[in-house]
Amino acid sequence: MQSSIAGKLWMAATGLFLCLFLLVHLFGNLQLFLPRPQGQLQFNFYSHLLSSNPLIKIAGLATYAGILGHAVLSLLLTRRNRAARSVPYAYSRPQDASPWYARNMGILGTVLLIFLVIHMKTFWYEYHWGAVGVDSGGHRDLYAVVLAAFDREWYVALYVVAMAAMGYHLLHGVESAFRTFGFQPRRFARLAHRLGVAFAVGVSALFAIIPVYVYLVQRW
Ligand code: HEM
Repeated sequence: MQSSIAGKLWMAATGLFLCLFLLVHLFGNLQLFLPRPQGQLQFNFYSHLLSSNPLIKIAGLATYAGILGHAVLSLLLTRRNRAARSVPYAYSRPQDASPWYARNMGILGTVLLIFLVIHMKTFWYEYHWGAVGVDSGGHRDLYAVVLAAFDREWYVALYVVAMAAMGYHLLHGVESAFRTFGFQPRRFARLAHRLGVAFAVGVSALFAIIPVYVYLVQRW
C-alpha cells in the first residue's frame, strides 16, 4: 500500500461496494415474507436466476474479493497506525472523542467474518454441494434449507446478535466512508451521518427480523 490515504480510500470503496451487495441480498431475502407456496416458488426461482447468470457470478466473485480486501486492508491499516504511534499519548481519553463502536470496528468486523463463515456453510455450501430437494417448479428448494436453519432458537439468536454487530459496524462505517470521499463540509457531514444511520438501522433491522419471522411463521 503506497499511503494510508490510498488505504482509507480502498477501505471506503470496498465497504460501500459491500453495502450495495447487502441491499441486493436483502431485496432477495425479503421474498421470504411472502406466503407459501408463492414465497417458496419465487425465492427458489430468484436463487436459480442468480446462480445461473454469468454476470451475477462475476458480481459474486467481486463480492468475495471485496470482503477479503476490506478485511486484509483493515489489518494492514491498523498495523501501520500502531507502528506510527509507538509512543503512547501522555493524555488519552478516546471515549470522549468517539463512540464505543467507532473504536471497536475491528472486533465488530471479526464478529461479522465469523458470522459469514457460519452463514456460508449453512446456505451457500448447502445450496451448491448439499443434498437439497426440488420444489414443484423444478428448482432447488433453498427455501426449505432456510426454513430448517431458522427452526432452531440458537441459530435465530445468533443472527439477531450478528445483525446487531453489523448495525453498529455500519453505523460508523457508512458515515466514515462518505467522509473519506469528501463529505467533509458541515452540510454534507450531516447528510453523511443521516444516510449512515438510516442505512445501518434499516438494513440490519430487516435482516434481523427475517430469521425471527421465519421461526415464528413455522409455529403459527
Ligand atoms: C436473514 C438474513 C439472511 C438470509 C436469510 C440469507 C440467505 C442466504 C442464502 C439463502 C444464500 C445462498 C444463496 C446462493 O448461494 O445463491 C446466501 C448467500 C450469501 N449471503 Fe446471506 N442471508 C442473510 C444475511 C446475510 C448477511 C447479513 C450477509 C453479510 C453480512 C450475507 C452474506 C452472504 C454472502 C456473501 C453469500 C454468498 C453470495 C454469493 O455466493 O453470491 N447474508 N444468503
